[in-house]
Amino acid sequence: MTIRLGIAGGNRGGSFERSLASLEEEIELVAVCDPSDEVLRGWIDKRSGLEAFSNFEDLIESPNIDAVFVATPMPFHAAQSMMALNAGKHVLSEVIAATTLDECYALVETVEQTGMTYMMAENYCYRREAMMIKNMTDSHAFGDLTYAEGAYIHDCRDLMFDSNLARTWRGGSWGKSGDQKTHSSRGNGYPTHSLGPIAQWLGINRSDRLTLTTTFVTSSLARRDWALSVLPEGHIDATEDAWSDFTDSATTLIQTEKGRVICLRKDSASPRPHNMALHSLQGTKGAYISGRHTDEDPLVWINGISTGVSPANFGYKDMARPPELSDARGAEWQPLWELSNQYEHPYWKEYGSEATKAGHGGGDYFIMRDFALAVSGKIDPPIDVYDAATWSSVFPISMENVNRMGEPLKIPDFRKNR
Ligand SMILES: NC(=O)c1ccc[n+]([C@@H]2O[C@H](COP(=O)([O-])OP(=O)(O)OC[C@H]3O[C@@H](n4cnc5c(N)ncnc54)[C@H](O)[C@@H]3O)[C@@H](O)[C@H]2O)c1
Repeated sequence: MTIRLGIAGGNRGGSFERSLASLEEEIELVAVCDPSDEVLRGWIDKRSGLEAFSNFEDLIESPNIDAVFVATPMPFHAAQSMMALNAGKHVLSEVIAATTLDECYALVETVEQTGMTYMMAENYCYRREAMMIKNMTDSHAFGDLTYAEGAYIHDCRDLMFDSNLARTWRGGSWGKSGDQKTHSSRGNGYPTHSLGPIAQWLGINRSDRLTLTTTFVTSSLARRDWALSVLPEGHIDATEDAWSDFTDSATTLIQTEKGRVICLRKDSASPRPHNMALHSLQGTKGAYISGRHTDEDPLVWINGISTGVSPANFGYKDMARPPELSDARGAEWQPLWELSNQYEHPYWKEYGSEATKAGHGGGDYFIMRDFALAVSGKIDPPIDVYDAATWSSVFPISMENVNRMGEPLKIPDFRKNR
């Protein structure tokens, strides 16, 4: 079965072209939708057979498509996904899936009622190191997991304005005019890149669940300084006050039902080089830390596999060291890739070379491939609507945490009506 796909949102949708080229048997791109004539023209010039729509409602009414990739600005994802599902189309939604708790609940209900396939396109879960760690957590290599950290730190300040110097959705155009906050508001506005891989390692919504959370945010000084330095004098946003509803950096803590703790950071304003995967994981038998920058290898130390023993294995100060450890060295980190013979994820073993041709460390390839497998009924969506709602709900809850000066709040169990 070849799925006939329509892309809504021609910019991000365009980054999937390389993935689609490798998946021609599974997915055929037949339509694109974007209100911008310029964006549509760019697509048609490259692919003359495409149906072009400037209106989302027309796209989802087309009998020529089976599925929609919702790659529009974040505040549209939930409403457009629900419209598409109700029109009988399968949906792959860009992150985050929803920006309010009401939207999270409604999205879950719509998927349950329509029975259509829904998947969230959290590509960070499919990066090589993330999948290898998943393989290792599935085989209990780190022992019982206790703690994880994730961060999405990406200076996106230049994306807050368009070429006419009007605010884009990343600049909070929705947040200022309505009650829908976005991306850089005072909360964790983009939690799924950091949380997604961790949720999969910890079995969230499978064997554990997120229960309680709080978030603290910084002022938005880097954002303000940037705006004051680049915007022309007299521009409405070239003032100290314009950025008071925003944050540079948000830190979220989450407790799980099994007593694990997750710490997330989201920062889309602070000046520094971008590196995509910032994660760490602690278990009772070992630990994982991703590289601090793109040239540094991810590292692991696993008791019994890696070199050395953890300091506590040397015993108390006055206790004799066990004879078998008398010559043992202290624990030493080793590059994760040294364990690839044993733990490389089967996806990366088989399709790694195809995946690396696509964007975002291979994630964009595997997202499309798994979506095709899910639509054709061969697998359940690996990032289903319950994951999408749970991970995305951190955003609206985090804003409420901030409003309540850090009071911890419950994370709903979106699976309870299932
Ligand atoms: N997963 C990732 O790594 C990743 C990377 C980049 C962007 N994204 C996500 O993809 C989405 C789009 O991001 P972007 O950078 O392309 O944003 P963008 O603002 O640059 O582009 C959005 C596009 O959507 C179009 N659009 C606006 N309203 C529309 C509508 N009603 N119907 C159809 N098209 C519409 C716009 O004309 C524009 O071409 C965002 O949600 C973002 O979070 C994810």
